Amino acid sequence: MPDLIWINGEIIPMAEARISVEDRGYQFADGVYEVIRIYNGRTFTLTEHLERLKRSAEAIRIGVPLAIDTLGAEIRKLIDASGVREGMIYLQLTRGTCARNHLIPDQCKPTLLFYARALPPVAPPGQGEGARLLAVADERWKRCWIKSIALLPNVLAKSEAIAAGYDEAAFVENGIVTECAASNIFAVIDGKLVTHPVGSKVLPGITRAILLDCAANLEIEVDERPLREEEMTRAAELFITSTTREVSWVARWNDRYIGQGRCGPVTLALHRALQERVRAQSN
Ligand code: PDD
Repeated sequence: MPDLIWINGEIIPMAEARISVEDRGYQFADGVYEVIRIYNGRTFTLTEHLERLKRSAEAIRIGVPLAIDTLGAEIRKLIDASGVREGMIYLQLTRGTCARNHLIPDQCKPTLLFYARALPPVAPPGQGEGARLLAVADERWKRCWIKSIALLPNVLAKSEAIAAGYDEAAFVENGIVTECAASNIFAVIDGKLVTHPVGSKVLPGITRAILLDCAANLEIEVDERPLREEEMTRAAELFITSTTREVSWVARWNDRYIGQGRCGPVTLALHRALQERVRAQSN
């Protein structure tokens, strides 16, 4: 079966999809996106992702062309047509095509597209290699809560980390650890789960929100506050979260090993709790 894409209302083979060179997503990174997980042929936390899409789009004054319920139904249609059982949806909404001009045009029809991709399964909770994080300067803008397609700082940071033999880049600004290039970060310090509040420097990760809810259910104390870089190496546990990686325990911060060199009990319990939600709620 050819790769399929839903683009502006039609499902067609990916190879036939066309976007103008004057699409503002291409010329100005003028758009927003979502990555939504597919488990067992069904979306997970679709509503939460589409609500975040709406908030991101509103923040940059792009109207989502479909009602959220209709969009959800179209995404399910595309998943069924693609036959992807374990994977993700990549969805992108740009302001659309018009003659190049920095000014936001009055009349511009947004370009909306999404497609499904298979993903390999993540390692079971507590297993697999721990992630190695490289600290890099956070040179991003101050509206990181918008899931913008303008990802150049993230792309450069991640590539720098991989080139240096790490798995993910962690952004640090004025000694504060905000989040990673494509994931949120948590530390277990003095028995508490600590993570930077969402906002100017931290994307409101859907996985992050679910884990905080799981932590409340498990009666794990949570402290949403800025994390100082020097706290990272004395943390009992560190882990990172995202839609695609779920929960990854962290083995190293720069050249320093974290905790006992294996996945810690809080990380393990939270990853298991997340997977229980997945089993219960794929919608
Ligand atoms: N990225 N922070 C950043 C900067 C991210 O790009 C992501 C996700 C997250 C985690 O958010 P969520 O739990 O909602 O996936 C945090 C996606 C997966 C990506 O760009 O591929």
